[in-house]
Amino acid sequence: MYDTALWLHIVTGYVLFAYVLIPVLIPRAAKNSATAGVLVTANRITQYLLIIGFLTGGYMVSKAGYSTLWIVVAIVLLLIMFAMGGMVTKPLKKLAQGDRSVINKAMIFSIVFFVAYLGMMAIMSAPQMLA
Ligand code: HEM
Repeated sequence: MYDTALWLHIVTGYVLFAYVLIPVLIPRAAKNSATAGVLVTANRITQYLLIIGFLTGGYMVSKAGYSTLWIVVAIVLLLIMFAMGGMVTKPLKKLAQGDRSVINKAMIFSIVFFVAYLGMMAIMSAPQMLA
């Protein structure tokens, strides 16, 4: 069970790297509403992947001894990712409707998401860093 959770968790973690495409494609989405529509869907899928990451990660944490600091940082980063993924939805939908005024918001939220993701990957790869 633990091995399955770890496998699912790691696969989910690496698939989430694809989120980088959202900030990269936002300038194109501002000119093409079909692209913006694809980004809305990709962003929604990301939110489901975060839930999988949370459930499998929470399960693994309950099975072994990780430092409280490491767990707190992981949860804070996860909350930032959930929040940014949620907040970027509206600007992305507006881009899909042809409203270009929200491009900066969409950029900032998606970049903050990705920076939190990179932080998450860093602490995940080296739990002893925050021991
Ligand atoms: C969605 C955001 C997350 C991503 C992208 C992510 C990514 C990863 C990756 C890639 C690994 C494998 C690291 C390695 O073996 O080198 C890992 C391990 C792990 N993750 Fe996450 N994770 C996320 C969220 C969480 C959360 C919220 C928790 C629980 C608080 C958690 C708990 C764990 C645990 C316990 C391990 C095993 C660490 C070990 O002992 O080596 N993860 N994670």
